[in-house]
Amino acid sequence: MCGILGLLLNDPNIDCAPEICEGLSLLQHRGQDACGIVTCGPKGRFFQCKANGMVRDIFDEKSVQKLIGGMGVGHVRYPTAGSFNNAEAQPFYVNSPYGIVFAHNGNLINTTSLLHFMDATAHRHINTSSDSELLLNIFANNLQQTGKFRINEDDIFTAIGGMMKQVKGAYACVAMLAGFGIIAFRDPNGIRPVGMASRKTATGNDYIIASESVVADASGFSEWSDVNPGEAIIITRAGVTRRQVHEPEIFAPDIFEYVYFARPDSVLDGVSVYRSRMAMGDALAVEVRRVLAQRRISVDVVIPVPDTSRVAALNLAQKLNLPYREGFIKNRYIGRTFIMPGQQMRKKNVRRKLNAMALEFADKNVLLVDDSIVRGTTSKEIIQMAKDVGAKKVIVASCAPPIRYPNVYGIDMPSRNELVAYGRHEDSIAGAIGADLVIFQTLPDLIESVRQFNTSINVFDCSVFTGEYVTGGVDESYLSHIESLRADNVRSKVAAMTGELSAQEGKGGGGAGVAVNGVNGRQTVLTSNGPSGQNGNGPDDTVGLHNSWYS
Ligand SMILES: *[C@@H]1O[C@H](CO)[C@@H](O)[C@H](O)[C@H]1NC(C)=O
Ligand SMILES: *[C@@H]1O[C@H](CO)[C@@H](O)[C@H](O)[C@H]1NC(C)=O
Ligand SMILES: *[C@@H]1O[C@H](CO)[C@@H](O)[C@H](O)[C@H]1NC(C)=O
Repeated sequence: MCGILGLLLNDPNIDCAPEICEGLSLLQHRGQDACGIVTCGPKGRFFQCKANGMVRDIFDEKSVQKLIGGMGVGHVRYPTAGSFNNAEAQPFYVNSPYGIVFAHNGNLINTTSLLHFMDATAHRHINTSSDSELLLNIFANNLQQTGKFRINEDDIFTAIGGMMKQVKGAYACVAMLAGFGIIAFRDPNGIRPVGMASRKTATGNDYIIASESVVADASGFSEWSDVNPGEAIIITRAGVTRRQVHEPEIFAPDIFEYVYFARPDSVLDGVSVYRSRMAMGDALAVEVRRVLAQRRISVDVVIPVPDTSRVAALNLAQKLNLPYREGFIKNRYIGRTFIMPGQQMRKKNVRRKLNAMALEFADKNVLLVDDSIVRGTTSKEIIQMAKDVGAKKVIVASCAPPIRYPNVYGIDMPSRNELVAYGRHEDSIAGAIGADLVIFQTLPDLIESVRQFNTSINVFDCSVFTGEYVTGGVDESYLSHIESLRADNVRSKVAAMTGELSAQEGKGGGGAGVAVNGVNGRQTVLTSNGPSGQNGNGPDDTVGLHNSWYS
């Protein structure tokens, strides 16, 4: 999962980087592995700073000051099919045509055939295993096809439409053309979220594009509008043009955004994430009441697993007339476990992150509410913590149904056999995580919890629960392929080679990537001749760009 951001200020003499930086910190929950900003300044020059690490680690006053220009693109990354290499921090850049900077959230399905197309037909070199670099080059190749010295908006829309025909998968993207403007688009299934908003200034409008509406709210932008599936938006200082460049297919936003991923204060596709989580608690309460009656178990207290499930847990407790207690207190200064790649780190972190208050657990039948159960390793440890401080029975209620299939659209889920629910019945899931009972939300209830707030959404991507993938093209061989690419595998392989994992653990920080080595604002200035000058010497320039931030 990743977060993307684009900002165009009406006054080109005001630097946009400080605001992008602040916006990225509001998207930090979407990815803590790497981050980056590229701005476009006078003469179409790109200024960039990107590296592995969290926003607060990579950007300081000095590094932000060097990012000149009134428009820019930002990215926070959580690795998916690609690796965690420094070279794969986004935004990506290609010099030809026109100078393009690109940030992507999602994951592509037909990468093998696309890579072959790049090599055999487009003659473009793809250096990393990131499908974002691939998607950028497909986009660039389509722009190149126009063969024009200067392009207009029609050409850009045509190029994006062509790209959408070639590419299969999930992608919400923001691109910047040197000296021209900012472009946003969303795949025809609308799987990943992205929207835009505007802000009036004395001279004209500023525009922002972001994965979540919270970014717009926080910076005083209003009139949030989601990018439609198959739509592209071009923003220049002359204004905004929106066009449907591909017929929308089944609109299927990823329901996991509401369950876990997005911030509660965001509104995605017209649905408040917070309200949907409240509704999940209400619906889950009905199921919990039913199952508890059937099993003749009574519960004394409802305790959320912080933070995501708090909203649902409170509603559930109210509905069941049970006391709600904050039994676990979180250490704020340690990163989330789900988001930290590497099983070893994940295990150790739970107890460092949470402390159980004995008074709230002792001699009670406790109902723990969690947003979802993925590997079950975190749940197992939390249940053990509850028992260690004297809980009589621990019943777990999950706001999401059992997760039995991998996510192929950009959320980094483990491979199937690492999922605790894979091939397991509910009772044996309880056994595996050491709970006395596990109660899952039903899928129809989960869907209704979200859909009731925008009934024109008929379908959600629920593939992690059902194994049905809306784009098609996901079969056994694809799943095996993606599992072999999984970030964890790559990470642990490299860690084993370099022995860096242990050093990494010692840092105790929020999931900064392996190869950070104290990076604070790697700076590069790229020159691009803007839309008028196409120097077209592809790979060499790209290599120069990436290498320079190692030096
Ligand atoms: C990607 O997949 C689509 C749908 O299967 C296919 O039509 C297209 O040709 C593929 N792209 C390439 C470059 O092969
Ligand atoms: C509800 O979803 C539809 C797509 O099915 C979208 O067009 C519409 O804008 C959404 N409503 C709101 C209020 O955002
Ligand atoms: C190309 O990929 C390799 C291996 O991932 C990486 O080390 C290198 O920095 C990349 N080069 C560029 C120019 O991005």
